[in-house]
Amino acid sequence: MFRHTARVYDLLYQATGRDYAAEATTLHELIQQRSPRAASLLDVACGTGGHLVHLRQWYEVVGVDLDPGMLDEARRRLPGVPLVEADMRRFSLDRTFDSVTCLFSSIGYMGSEQDLDRAVATMVSHLAPGGVFVMDGWIRPDAWADDEPIHLLSASDENVTVARMSRSRREGNRTFLDMHYLIGSRHGLSHEFEIHDMTLFEPAQYEAALHRAGLISVETLPSPSPGRDRYVGVTAAH
Ligand SMILES: C[S@@+](CC[C@H](N)C(=O)[O-])C[C@H]1O[C@@H](n2cnc3c(N)ncnc32)[C@H](O)[C@@H]1O
Repeated sequence: MFRHTARVYDLLYQATGRDYAAEATTLHELIQQRSPRAASLLDVACGTGGHLVHLRQWYEVVGVDLDPGMLDEARRRLPGVPLVEADMRRFSLDRTFDSVTCLFSSIGYMGSEQDLDRAVATMVSHLAPGGVFVMDGWIRPDAWADDEPIHLLSASDENVTVARMSRSRREGNRTFLDMHYLIGSRHGLSHEFEIHDMTLFEPAQYEAALHRAGLISVETLPSPSPGRDRYVGVTAAH
C-alpha cells in the first residue's frame, strides 16, 4: 500500500496544511465529553503516528497498522509506544482501552460490508465498558465529485523532493486512486506507483456496523475532511 512511499507521507500531508495537533485536540475533547475518565487509547490504522504523537500527552497510547513501512515511520516518531503490525479485521491485543479510534478514512480500505462489520467488531472488542469509539468514514457517495479527477501535490525538505500526481475514478461503490510519485534525493530519482482501492459506504452502512458491534449512543458528526463523516459510539458502562 504505502510500502515505498511511507517516508514521504508526512511531508506530503504537511504540504496540504493538514493539522494533526488540532485534530488530536478536537478528538480529545470529544472523547472526554463522552468518557471523562478515559486514559488509554488505541489508534487502529495509525499510519505514521500523526495523531498519536499528540494524543500521547493525554493518553497511554498503542497503535495498529497493516503497513510495515508506515509503522517504521511511526516507530521513529514514537519511541517506547507499542506499535503492532496487524489487519484491523482480525487482531487481538489481549487487553482493552478507554477509547479506540480509526481516523482519516482508513476504514474505506474495507472492500465489502462484511469486512466493514469485521473491522468494526474487532476494534469495538478492544473497548472497555463505557469506552468511546471514533471512526472517520471515506467520502460520502453523494459527495464524490467526478469532475476533478487529477490532483498534483509536491513538497520538499532538506533530504527529499516529492511530486505526487493522482487520478481518482469511481466504479459503482468502489473508488480507485491511482497515485504516481517521483521522489528525488541525493541518491537519485525514483518512481513509485500505487492503486488505493476504497469503498464508498453509505452513512447508514457505517451506522449499522456500529450498532451491530454493540455500541450505543451512535452519532454521526462532521469529520475533519470535507464530504466525510465521523461516527462515534460508546459501549455500555458494565
Ligand atoms: C490514509 S492512511 C491514514 C493513516 C493515519 N491514520 C493518518 O491519519 O495519517 C490509511 C492507513 O490505513 C492503513 N490500513 C489500510 N488497510 C488496513 C487494514 N486492513 N488494517 C490495518 N490498517 C490498514 C494503511 O496502512 C494506512 O496507514
